[in-house]
Amino acid sequence: MRKFFIYSLFAVVFLGLTGASQADEFWKKWPAGKAKGPMPPCGVNVIALGGDDILQATVDIYCGVKPGNYKSFIHPKAFATYKVRGSKYPDGIVGVLVFKQIDAVFTTEIKGGKPIYDVLQISTGKSIASSDAGHPLNPATCEKCHASFEGVCKGFVCGNRF
Ligand code: HEC
Repeated sequence: MRKFFIYSLFAVVFLGLTGASQADEFWKKWPAGKAKGPMPPCGVNVIALGGDDILQATVDIYCGVKPGNYKSFIHPKAFATYKVRGSKYPDGIVGVLVFKQIDAVFTTEIKGGKPIYDVLQISTGKSIASSDAGHPLNPATCEKCHASFEGVCKGFVCGNRF
């Protein structure tokens, strides 16, 4: 009985540890991307402040959730392409956009040349993407902007456009 108890205890600790690793900030040691800043409140004209059309569109879509400051990190394997604004990223995760204040991270991944977008809750590592049409956290919304906004983003990456 005692042995069983000890085994169960191990199982609990082990599950606890693997559970915790899911919430690891896997981008922690990646190089920082250029995209970073405060998300201004709704109604702010960022073009007047030196921003461009795509940033204005982004602010207009995401200001409502008051996401606070954001920072981007680029996967080391994708960084060489990022630096030269390449359009062909290797398969795998390209980069993340971290919104610490709202416990959310946007992720862009490439699979067979095609982008996959997701939104994860930082503390749990679980997806909080939406499947509602037109929802700001629906991957189709990400796609609309990252893949086709006046061709501004290269290789589905937007933060290196300047
Ligand atoms: C209306 C346009 C727009 C939408 C919608 C949008 N993004 Fe972005 N995204 C941007 C812009 C612009 C940047 C760079 C911000 C900057 O320069 O400060 C960016 C940056 C990022 C980055 C950092 C890497 C990079 O491309 O520079 C990731 C990752 C990202 N977005 C993923 C997503 C995901 C996932 C969604 C959907 C949940 C999404 N985005 C929705 C415009 C958009």
